Order: sequence, then C-alpha cells, then structure tokens
Amino acid sequence: MEISQRIQKMGEPALLKYYSMVNTVQKKGKKVYFLNIGQPDIPTPVGFLECLNCFDEKVLAYQAPEGIRPLREAACGYYRRLGLDYTIEDLFVTNGGSEALLFTFIGICNPGDEILTAEPLYSIYKEMAAATNVTLVGFKTYAEDGFALPDSAVIEAAITEKTRAILMTNPGNPTGKVFTQQEITVLKELALKHDLYLISDEVYREFIYDDQVYLSPSQQPDLEQNFILIDSISKRYSACGARIGFIISKNKRLMKQLKKLCQMRLSVSTIDQIGAVSLFALEQNFFDEILAEYAHRREIVYQALQEIPGLICKEPKGAFYFMAKLPIRDASHFIEWMITDFDYLGETVLLSPANDFYLNPADGADEVRIAYVLKERDMLAAMEILKQGLSAYGLTFPESRK
Ligand SMILES: Cc1ncc(COP(=O)(O)O)c(C=O)c1O
Repeated sequence: MEISQRIQKMGEPALLKYYSMVNTVQKKGKKVYFLNIGQPDIPTPVGFLECLNCFDEKVLAYQAPEGIRPLREAACGYYRRLGLDYTIEDLFVTNGGSEALLFTFIGICNPGDEILTAEPLYSIYKEMAAATNVTLVGFKTYAEDGFALPDSAVIEAAITEKTRAILMTNPGNPTGKVFTQQEITVLKELALKHDLYLISDEVYREFIYDDQVYLSPSQQPDLEQNFILIDSISKRYSACGARIGFIISKNKRLMKQLKKLCQMRLSVSTIDQIGAVSLFALEQNFFDEILAEYAHRREIVYQALQEIPGLICKEPKGAFYFMAKLPIRDASHFIEWMITDFDYLGETVLLSPANDFYLNPADGADEVRIAYVLKERDMLAAMEILKQGLSAYGLTFPESRK
C-alpha cells in the first residue's frame, strides 16, 4: 500500500527527535535540561484553572467552529489595548498558532505555490509546507547584522508567478529578530505591488527587549485586505498545553473560506477555550513581570555564553532564543553526544541543532539554538554543562574543531 509523497517529504523536526534518546538516559538517572524547545517554566496564570473549576455543564459539548464568543470578544479587547481594531468577525480560534498557520497555507496556496520567508526560519514552517504541497522560498538573514532584512530588490527577485505570500515572524524564532518600521514598509509595499498576502506570525509579541516598540503590519490600514495575523496564547501566557491560537484577517472573502476549515475540524477544545478567556483579562503588570524575568534570563545567559571559549553569539532582541555558533563542525553530532555520552555531575543539556532552521540542511551545521525558558539557577547550570561539554568534546574529537 502507498503512503503519500506529501507526508514522506515531511521531516521530523530536529528539536523533537532526540526524545527517545533522552528517555533512555533519564531512566539511567541522568538529569537533562531541556533548552531545545520553547516550553517556558513560568506558571500558567491561576485564573485559567479557576475558570475550569467554575465549569458546571453536564456535557463537554462541541463549540462553534470559529470559537466561543467570550474568547473572541476577550481577544478583541486585548488587541484594542494594543491599538489594533479587530472585531469578532475578523478572528477564528484555532488549535494553537500551529493550526492557524496550517489553515493559512491551505487557504491561500494551491499545490506548487510558493511562500517567501526569511531564513533562519521556524522549523515547523517546513513541515507545514511539505504537508500542504507548498514550496517555501527563503532569503537569508545574518546574525552579524541583527538578522536585518536584505534590500527590497533581493526579496523582490525571489518573487515568481507562483508566490502567494510573504511570511514574517515578529519577533523571530530562532533569531529573536524584531522588525523595524522600515522593514515592515518594505514587505508591505512588495505585498501590495505583487498582490501577495503578508502573513505575520506574532506569537512572541510581548517578548521584546531594550525598550524597542512592537510594530506590526496590522497597524497599516492600506494593507488590510492582504494581511493575515497568526497568534497564540502558548508563549504569552505560558499555556502551551492549552492549544489556543487565532487566525485573523479583515479580508472577508478569505475568512469566509477559512471558516470551512474550522468547520471541517468541528471545534477547538471547550475546556481550553473557557480557561483562555480568563487570560485575556490579565493587566499590563502581568506582562511587565514576565518580560523582566526573560530580560534577566537573557542577560545571564549572554554573559555565560561569552565565557565559553570559541562560542560566538549576539544578544537577541526578542522572543527567548539564542542562536550560537559553536567551535565545532557538526552541532547535530555534538547534541547527540551530549545526551548519550556526556554528563557533568550527572547532568546534561539538550539543545536544538540550527540546521533545522534552514531550508538547506547544510546551512547552520555548526550552530545551535538555546531556549532560555528555565529559571536562573537551571540556566546557569545548563551553561556550565555546555561549557564543560564543548571542552570534553574537543578533546574526544580533536578533528571536530578544524
Ligand atoms: C514562531 C512560532 N509560530 C508558531 C508557533 C506555534 O505555537 P502554538 O501552536 O503552540 O500556538 C511556535 C511555537 O513554538 C512558534 O515558535
């Protein structure tokens, strides 16, 4: 029997593929710090669980495919506080930002169409594209200049008759890049000139450091019909397991079609939606505290990384990831070795190989992504393990440094 080409073309995201190895060593008593994935350790606000305790229906019924009204209204209130004028007709609740992305790919592309995006990119975009027969076309950005977008002409040269959209991640995962007004204007003008969608994935919106301001194409009224916003509560409220996201657009023709995808999967979890309503009532001081915590983690991790001989990295401007170049050739091998062969006082660390974040797997071979999602003590312990691990790896495999 056949298995579809489409699914066979999908990769296994490297940031998840080490778990069976990790399970084996954990069973033998090794402690592993998980810095491979954006799973924060910040407690989910208690209001989420309190809402669930008040739930007194006798049946866990399906909800409206587009999401429950109180959640859509609460989300609109949150956008209003950000100065964004969305009504409940402009947004559907989805199973995380992941489903919002999948719906976007299905909704705007025919098989073989192209979506243009900056590299390094969020690795799951590749799997979304493979699953929907979409071709991702990348334009490179570099740590040396803060992952700035290339000139408009470079991006425009990559647009073909099959291009349907430009996808931006703001702030960026894995780059931490925060878009400037000028960059947003460049992408907006290209989208309008070539009649493309501009998709903005803003699941890290609140994680912006150094007094930079949040800027989004959603603040551009002339782009309304071309613009799709992807959002999620996962990172903002440390509620990754709740699986609540949003797909948002003022393009009514598009939303009418996207609603069919919501209907196809009937409903998003009733429980998750009810809990999520409470999150949108949280005041600014909630975000201020979280941001202060992440800013502190970023600072201490940056200091610790600078003390590791031969490691090169820049301080990210947003999200909660560092991209770091290691003084070895094959970061994937190093990551596996750290799990299976190395420990420092009975502990080790799991990182993400950065080649996962490029379209060509040969790119980023000596780089890793480090998620600073653990508390200070754990992050510092993990950085010491990384330092000791790199030193031991260099002695074990002297060739790896050439
Ligand atoms: C850039 C980006 N977009 C979307 C998502 C999807 O998040 P979720 O499906 O948990 O909302 C993630 C998760 O890590 C992400 O990093």
